[in-house]
Amino acid sequence: MYYDPEKNDHGLPHNPFKSCVVPRPIGWISTVSSDGVHNLAPYSQFQNLTFNPPYVMFAANQNSLGRRKDTVVNTEQTGEFVYNMATWDLREAVNRSAQEAPPEVDEFDLAGMTKAPSVRVKPCRVAESPVQFECCYHQTLRLPGNRPLGTVDVIIGRVVLIHIKDDVIGPDGRLDILRIRPLARLGYYDYTTVDSFFEMVIPGGEVNLLAGLEGAAGRFSRTYKK
Ligand SMILES: Cc1cc2nc3c(=O)[nH]c(=O)nc-3n(C[C@H](O)[C@H](O)[C@H](O)COP(=O)(O)O)c2cc1C
Repeated sequence: MYYDPEKNDHGLPHNPFKSCVVPRPIGWISTVSSDGVHNLAPYSQFQNLTFNPPYVMFAANQNSLGRRKDTVVNTEQTGEFVYNMATWDLREAVNRSAQEAPPEVDEFDLAGMTKAPSVRVKPCRVAESPVQFECCYHQTLRLPGNRPLGTVDVIIGRVVLIHIKDDVIGPDGRLDILRIRPLARLGYYDYTTVDSFFEMVIPGGEVNLLAGLEGAAGRFSRTYKK
């Protein structure tokens, strides 16, 4: 089958679109308003963009009143946000923080999460989350969309400090992903977690290609292919 997303003529009982790009990592984004109110919300339209230096992005649709979401307003006004990793253990808190609360509500309190002060930015980190990135706002890309929700603010930020809890670093010096169990979105109201992985290396042994795959900027060879 195929269908036109403008017409949504898929003939299925539920819209399949979000099930077609899965799993999506959840950026659990904390910000603080210019009045000092702490905000926390999950964004599964989230991704890292590059690694040297690292940039991340999240895409926020409009809220149910057709207005820009608090995360976007705060990020643009203060120039800062924090990415917190969402995990299986934190799933209920992640879900609570997605409620459309007014801007004056402290959403760390709403989610029942603890504020950990950041080092370089004003928004707090979620103390219970095993990985957090302190980010400086870089740019907003505003894509036109169908009102009220469809219009989107794509926020790009540069990662300026990375926090990883010591107890999720395994004896081999790698993040113990099976212990962390990162949470990810599927379609509909469905979620998944990472509970298995396997390793695969690009054939050919090209040093820079492999350094890029690993995200290991320090391993790039200075001799570039002509
Ligand atoms: C797991 C999950 C992922 C979500 N991803 C997005 C997203 O990518 N973009 C978006 O606009 N809203 C997303 N939402 C909805 C927002 O979290 C919700 O609108 C929230 O109230 C926004 O809060 P804010 O106004 O404080 O930024 C998601 C909700 C959940 C539960």
